[in-house]
Amino acid sequence: MGRVLLTGASGTLGRVVVPALAKAGFRLQLSDLIEFPDPLPDGAEFAAADLTDQKALAAACPDDVTAIIHFGGINTETSSESILNANILGTSNVFEVARSRGARVIFASSNHTIGFHPRGRTLTIDDPYRPDGFYGLSKAYAELLGRMFHDKHGVESVHLRIGSCLPRPLDTRHLATWLSYPDLGRLVIAALTAPSPGYAVVWGVSRNTRRWWTGDDSERIGFFPEDDGERFAGCVAAEEGQAVSLAFQGASHCTIGYSRSGPMLPS
Ligand code: NAI
Repeated sequence: MGRVLLTGASGTLGRVVVPALAKAGFRLQLSDLIEFPDPLPDGAEFAAADLTDQKALAAACPDDVTAIIHFGGINTETSSESILNANILGTSNVFEVARSRGARVIFASSNHTIGFHPRGRTLTIDDPYRPDGFYGLSKAYAELLGRMFHDKHGVESVHLRIGSCLPRPLDTRHLATWLSYPDLGRLVIAALTAPSPGYAVVWGVSRNTRRWWTGDDSERIGFFPEDDGERFAGCVAAEEGQAVSLAFQGASHCTIGYSRSGPMLPS
């Protein structure tokens, strides 16, 4: 079995999946800008690399790599320049390295690719992108990059449109968008082991009673979430926020820099 490279290994979700993947027997190469803060699992190695430096990324990637799990980059809304470097250039570099090594890419995409869809609408992956900022736009770009690299170069990629990956739901929105940590592990392992995913898009969400998202490639890759945020319904906070935040699926990301005058689009 070849190695799996994990970018963004030292981040919150990286530290969640490392033990799950090690327990499942995957041989791991970890990478990030900053040192991995936890004890390395047996057989795992760490190499620092900046995603924006393709040579450094290639050097951190082992020769026998079979898959790159790409979690590295900026994980929230910020300036377009920062997003351009870490997320757009960084992800382009990941796909180039994957192409040169014949590796599959598993990408941490986001619900912010569709954040300006109104609440109350159930979406499938065939609904159009409606990014709610530069961050969501960078994730949509990466999904399309995966589409192009599959069509043009035969690179396989599985795009995980993660909702809210937390130890437990904290507010009422999370009852729809929550992805439990064990379901994140199941999702990544399904994406790694699916026999021929080609190009796939899967909602990174647990089997929540109140989920807003359906109609994806989860069954095709063998992802069957087991958790449901509903068991926390009695103890989450009511969601707070401005009207725009409460009207759209992307919540507070929609309000950042919002300057539209007149009525909100469309209710
Ligand atoms: P995080 O911010 O905790 O981890 C990201 C890691 O990327 C950090 O350790 C950081 O040092 C590294 N990084 C940033 N810029 C880099 C660069 N230029 N070169 C190399 N490494 C760099 O984020 P988190 O929460 O662990 O999320 C992981 C991925 O999942 C991110 O791509 C995020 O956008 C995505 N995601 C997370 C969600 C969540 O609920 N936590 C929801 C939707 C998507």
